[in-house]
Amino acid sequence: MSTRTIRIGLCGLGTVGQGVWKHLSASRAQLESRLGVKLELHRAAVRDLRKRRAVKIPASKLTDDARAVATDPKVDIVCELIGGTGLAREVTLAALARGKIVVSANKALLCSHGAEIFAAAKKGGGHFFFEASVAGGIPIIKALREGLVANRFRLIYGILNGTCNYILTRMSLEGAPYASILAEAKSLGYAEADESLDVEGWDTAHKASILAFLAHGVWVRTDRMIVEGIDRVTPLDIRTAATLGYGIKLLAVITRDFASNELFVRVHPTLLPKDKVLANVNGVFNGIAVSGDVVGTTTYIGRGAGQDATASAVISDIADAVTLLTTGKVVAMGGDAASFQGRAGRRLRLAPPEHVAGRYYLRMTVKDQPGVLAQIAQITARNRLSIASVIQTAAEPANAASLILTTHQSNERAIRATLSALARLKSVLGKPLLLRIGDFTD
Ligand code: NAP
Ligand code: HSE
Repeated sequence: MSTRTIRIGLCGLGTVGQGVWKHLSASRAQLESRLGVKLELHRAAVRDLRKRRAVKIPASKLTDDARAVATDPKVDIVCELIGGTGLAREVTLAALARGKIVVSANKALLCSHGAEIFAAAKKGGGHFFFEASVAGGIPIIKALREGLVANRFRLIYGILNGTCNYILTRMSLEGAPYASILAEAKSLGYAEADESLDVEGWDTAHKASILAFLAHGVWVRTDRMIVEGIDRVTPLDIRTAATLGYGIKLLAVITRDFASNELFVRVHPTLLPKDKVLANVNGVFNGIAVSGDVVGTTTYIGRGAGQDATASAVISDIADAVTLLTTGKVVAMGGDAASFQGRAGRRLRLAPPEHVAGRYYLRMTVKDQPGVLAQIAQITARNRLSIASVIQTAAEPANAASLILTTHQSNERAIRATLSALARLKSVLGKPLLLRIGDFTD
């Protein structure tokens, strides 16, 4: 019997696409012997045919027509590695409509069009795999859909953006300036084409939305989350947090209260106690703590961005896709929306802000004059916000002070009301910075 050939088409040959090309070429013989097929990197689509590539690829295999790769009858597996939600959506839907398997690293697309993509896969007889969309090389999608299938998840929190963790780590260890570290993260291939997606928290929100879907069976739109980035975190915040015993990490936090059946998804820079495992996950690494009712808490750490880590996740999906093509078997709960939706349970709703509890860190620049602290205290008292500590240091401009408050337990409604009242005070200069304190009980 002749060995079957599985043909792979790549849409996109940038950081991730070239990683897939490089590692699939290098490990092809080993993969072929494990999977019992021949693997052929059939075609690759790019935007600019003249661009120099780090991988060797015959010109005959390159095209600037991604749609042609997605619809090529010879191609069995389409890897969508373009990014964005325009052409990427088009090629994904076109391939699924033809019953093909799509492997994607595109969290932005999945977050905004996940329901449509799963419906298209079901209708066209195709399948959609997305291990590389969250946490780079960490197999967190497999962990949630397979390894932890017995569990219900009250808490999932994690560092999901390599670029932000790289920036915060370098700021913390070296006091390096934000802009130059971001430029470095871009040159290392960690950042999105539009880096505001990273630093403003949107990329983490896209990934949080995917994890929330896997764990709880509903798509939470980013406009129903709290999404705050790291772009306003300063070396002063990092130093003050360290003095208080915390590191600052950009976290996604997904909480489910099974008694009230309420879910909440949020993304924000967080003060994490230094003795927490994730407080010590540094550089481009991601880390995720998943608390399941059967297993307890499991923690996953690994490179969250970059060519090689992401290629590892894409190739793992390609291997699953080959198994599906050769055996007809879908891995447990894979690519099938219905199996995740079962996790929502009846009447799952998003928690209102007053049900989202926490402690807070507030930094503001204030006029350094009598009565200012009293005005601020009046506002916090009115909102039943109890102050835990106050740190005041000199600040720019002259006659201004930097005031940092930490609070006892309160909730998102109270802190929002406090923030908007503080912003209206003439003695508060500029917009106060709010950070959350992450006292998670794993
Ligand atoms: P990238 O380096 O910007 O690569 C994008 C690729 O798409 C390039 O090869 C580009 O062609 C091609 N492309 C763009 N527009 C096209 C068009 N109209 N027609 C044909 N090809 C087109 O991006 P990346 O970092 O590899 O990211 C790709 C995807 O993976 C994104 O969804 C991203 O969010 C996701 N991801 C990235 C990482 C990471 O660490 N970089 C990690 C996980 C997930 P040219 O090369 O000719 O410009
Ligand atoms: N820009 C993303 C990050 C790539 O830095 O995490 C990996 O998804």
